[in-house]
Amino acid sequence: MDFIDLKTQQEAIKPELDRRIAAVLAHGKYIMGPEVQELEQELQSYTEAKHCITVASGTEALLISLMALGIGPGDEVITTPFSFVATAEVIVLLGAKPVFVDIEPDTCNIDANLIEARITPKTKAIMPVSLYGQPADMDAINTIVARHDNIPVIEDAAQSFGATYKSKKSCNLSTIGCTSFFPSKPLGCYGDGGAIFTNDDVIAQACKEIRVHGQSQRYVHTRIGVGGRMDTLQCAVVLAKLDRFDWEVQQRGVIGARYNQQMDEAGINRVQQRSDRTSVFGQYTIFSEDRENMLAVLNEADIPTAVHYPVPLNEQPAYKQFSETDNTPVAQEVSQKVLSLPMHPSLTEIDQEKIISALASLTTLV
Ligand SMILES: Cc1ncc(COP(=O)(O)O)c(C=O)c1O
Repeated sequence: MDFIDLKTQQEAIKPELDRRIAAVLAHGKYIMGPEVQELEQELQSYTEAKHCITVASGTEALLISLMALGIGPGDEVITTPFSFVATAEVIVLLGAKPVFVDIEPDTCNIDANLIEARITPKTKAIMPVSLYGQPADMDAINTIVARHDNIPVIEDAAQSFGATYKSKKSCNLSTIGCTSFFPSKPLGCYGDGGAIFTNDDVIAQACKEIRVHGQSQRYVHTRIGVGGRMDTLQCAVVLAKLDRFDWEVQQRGVIGARYNQQMDEAGINRVQQRSDRTSVFGQYTIFSEDRENMLAVLNEADIPTAVHYPVPLNEQPAYKQFSETDNTPVAQEVSQKVLSLPMHPSLTEIDQEKIISALASLTTLV
């Protein structure tokens, strides 16, 4: 059993993948070739965002977005402590300060009710993460920023491409949405890749320029930028996956719902999904009071697992210095309990039965 099965997917898309890769090798435009624009158009229409700018990774998407908003030293960005490190890393890289706001204990997404109290005149952006594939409470966050000069909101949607919130697509729920095409993400390439989405023409133009060293015309560098383009070949890989993507999102929903039912029947505590949004189940995550034991039992049964995330970002050695005033007991508690199980569109009912019976043998400890 695989934690994520990319092999089955590759076999299913092989003819289209081969055709797409051969086309890139034939035209030889490895940087900013026609597949880059083609993918941007496809993703624009998928999310219904006005602009899509592909970039070198999800991290680069976040970094370029913050740069486009002009964030730098002295600024504060409100975010969650319960995420992959890239979320906070990009803030610090620009000399700004991450302000960590605690999470909801059941969804593990940032608790929107706690955001307003942390807004100061220095707050220049709010960066919620749509964790495990489920959008954060974006309307609640958008309502708060509307009371504060419309502070821009960047959705870190690295794990949630394909999810919806009140029928709108993740990545198109706020000022900017950023996703990742890291291979294990719901929509992945075969290397690094990412994309920025926005409906704002000025932000889109800034992101396009920053992606190519701040260049507005050839060798005219009007702003500071980065080398942040997504390779043509990686765009071709994502294009080859698009026909199958709707089916995969649907399958993830079916498998996630089946897991939910099994966990509820077995009395195993799990991450909850809100009824106004759909998760793309980038991860399927449960809570365990005795995680070490549960990991050992699953390991013994040859069931791969992961912990997303064992330490909140504000407790990481490199980030502690920014968070003296942050109070995030929920993130701290949850980080001791979370455990992710195999999740991918080809996970079979037999695999799920095997997982649940291994877990059921431990339910008294859950
Ligand atoms: C929440 C979150 N943000 C940002 C990133 C960074 O994406 P990438 O690995 O494509 O740079 C990831 C990916 O692991 C992520 O899960």
